[in-house]
Formats: sequence, C-alpha cells, structure tokens
Amino acid sequence: MSSNTTGRTTVLEASELDFTYRAGFSLFASRREGHHAVRGVSLTLGQGETLGLLGESGCGKSTLSALLCGDRRPDSGAMRLFSEPFDNFLKPSRRRLARVLQVVAQDTLGAFDPRQTIGRQITEVLAIHSIGQRSEYRDRAIEALRAVALPSSMLDRYPHQISGGQRQRAAIARALVTEPKILLCDEPVSALDVSVQAQVLNLLLDLQQQRGLSILFISHDVRVVRHVSHRVAVMQMGRVVETGPTEQVFSSPANPYTAKLLAAVPKGRRRSNPAGANAAPRILGENAAC
Ligand SMILES: Nc1ncnc2c1ncn2[C@@H]1O[C@H](COP(=O)(O)OP(=O)(O)OP(=O)(O)O)[C@@H](O)[C@H]1O
Ligand SMILES: [Mg+2]
Repeated sequence: MSSNTTGRTTVLEASELDFTYRAGFSLFASRREGHHAVRGVSLTLGQGETLGLLGESGCGKSTLSALLCGDRRPDSGAMRLFSEPFDNFLKPSRRRLARVLQVVAQDTLGAFDPRQTIGRQITEVLAIHSIGQRSEYRDRAIEALRAVALPSSMLDRYPHQISGGQRQRAAIARALVTEPKILLCDEPVSALDVSVQAQVLNLLLDLQQQRGLSILFISHDVRVVRHVSHRVAVMQMGRVVETGPTEQVFSSPANPYTAKLLAAVPKGRRRSNPAGANAAPRILGENAAC
C-alpha cells in the first residue's frame, strides 16, 4: 500500500472528487441549476491518523463525507480503500465496506430509531452485515458498550432515555461493533456541552491508540480540530484549499482563507503532546475521564 506525506500507510484516498446536487423544481434560479458542492477534492487518510476537515458551514464537509462513505456517488473522480478501488467494497453489497468503514454523525437522536432499544440497534448492525453468530450478538454489543465506557444496562434503554453524551458514545459503540479500521466523524461533538465534548474526544483518541483507527474528523470548531488532528484539510466552497500537518497549518497558514478562518477564533493554548508529534493529544475538560 502507498504512504501519504506523513509516512503512514494510506488507507483511504480520494482523487479529484466532484459532486453536484441535482436541481429540483424551484422558483429560485440557483436551485434550478443544482449546487456544485464538492469540487476537485483530493485527500489521503493514513493508518492511525486523524485528519481534521475544517471549513465554514455549507462549504461541503458533510457532502464529502457522504462520498467517502459511499452514501452518495461522485460525478467524477476516484476513491481507493486499502489500495483497492472503492467500488470493490460496495459489491455485491455494502457488507465489506461496513466492516472497514463506519460513520459517526452529529445528530445521534436522528441517527437512532426512537422505537428500538440501543441494544437492538447495535446488534442489528451485526445482523445486517452478517458478522459473527447470532448467539454472540449480545456479548459483542456489551463489549462495544464497554469500549465506550457505557454499562450493559444501556442495551435495554431507548435513545430518548439516555443523555446526549451517552447517546454519542452509544453511536460510537454502534460504529465500533463491526471493528472498522476507519471512522468518519461528522461533527461528533458539536451538539454536546464542553465537558462532555472532552469525554467523547478523549474516548476517540483512546480508541485510536488501542485500535490504530484512522479518523476523518469533520468540524467547524477550529480549536477542537487543532487538538485532535495530526493533519488538517481546509475546505472553502467545495474545494480543499490547504492541507498540511496541524501545527504547520496553524502556525503559518499558506492560504489566505485558512488564515482568516483561524484568525476568527480566540487563540487557545495547545497542549504539548508527550507521546510525540505523531500521536494525537488528549483534551482536558471538566470530568474529562470517560
Ligand atoms: N440534499 C441537498 N440538496 C441540495 N443541496 C444540498 C443538499 N445537501 C447540502 N446541500 C448544499 O450543499 C452545500 C454543502 O452542504 P454540506 O452539508 O456538505 O455543508 P457542510 O460543510 O457540512 O455544512 P455544515 O458545517 O453546516 O454542516 C450547501 O450549500 C448545502 O446547502
Ligand atoms: Mg455538515
């Protein structure tokens, strides 16, 4: 497998992706013309790496994520997973993709079915993708919950019966149950208050250390991206305008848009990282331990 600029093995690679939302009927001219949401985007994600994807609202981050997880098909461009054409993982079903790549979304209440328990929804993933034996499902679900520091009693709760932070962790558990290699996290902590954000971020960083997970971390929160990412990519109006190691981009942004985006937030202290430049740092918040 090839390596990216950080010397890590590339697990996910996108080249020149383009995507336009087709026009629907609308009184507004711009909608009649469709919306070119992703424009010539190329990026790589390395093994065990967190790539932060920054950009203001509407710049195309979630659309890019939808392309990278196969929910939407690019109009042009190519994607490779573990050096194989991406489409190999979609045929004859998405099972192969689900085993290596999972998504954690911002809206966990929307992502869970309100009529089914958390346990049912975790084990359903195993059933849909034919992973393991039915007799193991419960144990595997408990193990996934344990990995995100939730008790097995959560299995019998409905999504509205747990807190936002617990639900976000349950969403991560559901994503982990297939033992994926890659997580696409789209604003995974934006809906949470600051101390719970810290818990969930530390959890993701711990899981990355333990499992060598590769994470695409999408956020409009510049400080959070700086804390968790080894490298960052900055998007503006559908294009990636800058990529580079986090500290390099933050200390000397090459693109004027990046400089403006980074200047828009108060300067925060970045915690030095005793594990070395290649390891993502921990976030400290109130009750930061999971
Ligand atoms: N289903 C859709 N149909 C038409 N246009 C869409 C659709 N979904 C998103 N768009 C448009 O595509 C552009 C990119 O949207 P996207 O959701 O990818 O942005 P984003 O960077 O994730 O924003 P945010 O930070 O607010 O989540 C926006 O202009 C949006 O209005
Ligand atoms: Mg979005």
